[in-house]
Amino acid sequence: MSDVTAVNPETVSAAVEEALAAIDAANTIADLKSVRSRHLGDGSPIVQLNQAIGSLPKESKAEAGKLVGQARGRLNKAYAEREAAIADAEKEATLLAETVDVTEASFAWRPGARHPLSLLQDQVCDIFVGMGWEIAEGPEVENEWFNFDALNFDADHPARAMQDTFFVDPPSDHLVLRTHTSPVQVRSMLERDVPIYVLCPGRVYRTDELDSTHTPVFHQFEGLAVDEGLTMADLKGTLEHFARIMFGDEARIRLRPAFFPFTEPSAELDVWFADKKGGPGWIEWGGCGVVNPNVLRSGGIDPEKYSGFAFGMGVDRTLMFRNGVTDMHDIVEGDVRFSQQLGVSL
Ligand code: PHE
Repeated sequence: MSDVTAVNPETVSAAVEEALAAIDAANTIADLKSVRSRHLGDGSPIVQLNQAIGSLPKESKAEAGKLVGQARGRLNKAYAEREAAIADAEKEATLLAETVDVTEASFAWRPGARHPLSLLQDQVCDIFVGMGWEIAEGPEVENEWFNFDALNFDADHPARAMQDTFFVDPPSDHLVLRTHTSPVQVRSMLERDVPIYVLCPGRVYRTDELDSTHTPVFHQFEGLAVDEGLTMADLKGTLEHFARIMFGDEARIRLRPAFFPFTEPSAELDVWFADKKGGPGWIEWGGCGVVNPNVLRSGGIDPEKYSGFAFGMGVDRTLMFRNGVTDMHDIVEGDVRFSQQLGVSL
C-alpha cells in the first residue's frame, strides 16, 4: 500500500483483503496471534488508516470513519470466527489422538495360583489343628543323628548309604538333607513337654532321578502323638478321621504289618476312597506305628510312663492319587495352568 493515510475505499479494502488473507492462512492459535499484531494491532494498516481520519477535513471524517469502522468490524469478526474454528479443530485433533478403541481385544492378566502342594499341605495342617494338634517344623539340612541315629537306625542301615541320601560336605560335619520328616519327631520331644501332639510338614530329599513318579525333592507330613496310654487303636482312630476328611465319608483305611526302625509295631497305611469313577481301590498312603521306646529315650521321654504313635505320608503322592495327577513333572514344573486346574483358592 503506497499511501496508507489516504483513506478511501481502495486503501481500506486493500488493508482488509490483506488482513483477511492472513487470518485465513493462520492454522494455529499462535499463528493467529501474530496475524493480529501485524494486521489488527498498533501500527497495522487498518489502525494507521483509523488514525489518519483525525487529520482529514471535517466534512470527510464521517464517511471515512464509517468506512474504516466497518472494515475493522469485519476484521474483528473474521478474526473471532477463525479463532473459534482453530480451537474446534485443535479440540477435535486431541480427541482423535486420545481415542480409545473399546472394542480392541484386551490383554488379560491371569491371576496366579498357589501351588496345589501348598494347598494340600495347608489342608492337612488345618485338619490336625482342628483336632488340637500343633504344627512343628525342623531344618532341611539335618544332623545325621536326628535323621537316623535318634530314630533307631542301625549304623549299617541301607538308608544311610550314599545312593539314597544326600550328604553335605564335609562328611565330618555329619549333615544330610533330611530324607524324611521323622527327625522332627525327636526335635519335638526334646523341645516340648508331654503330652505332645504335633504335625510336621516339610520338604525332604532323596537321591532319586526325576521321572513320572519320583522327584529328588518332595514333601511329607509327619504326625507324632506322645501321651499316657496311647495305643495302636488311637493311631487307627486318628488316621480314620483324617482319611474321611481328606477323601470323603466313605473312605476307609487298613494297616498292613511293616517295618520301620522308629516304630514297633509298624504298619503300612492303605486308604480306600470313592471318586467320580468309582474309586481307585486300595492305595498305599504312608507308614505308621507305635513309637519305638528307643526313640522316646532319644527324645528324653520315659517309655515306662508314656507311649506314642507316629505316621508319615507324602504330600506329592497324596496329591497324585487323590487328584489323578499321573506325571510328577506336572507337579515340579510350576506351570500356572496346572495349578489353576486344581483350584486357585488363596
Ligand atoms: N518316615 C517314614 C518314611 O519316610 C514314614 C513313617 C513315619 C513311618 C512315621 C512310620 C512312622 O517312609
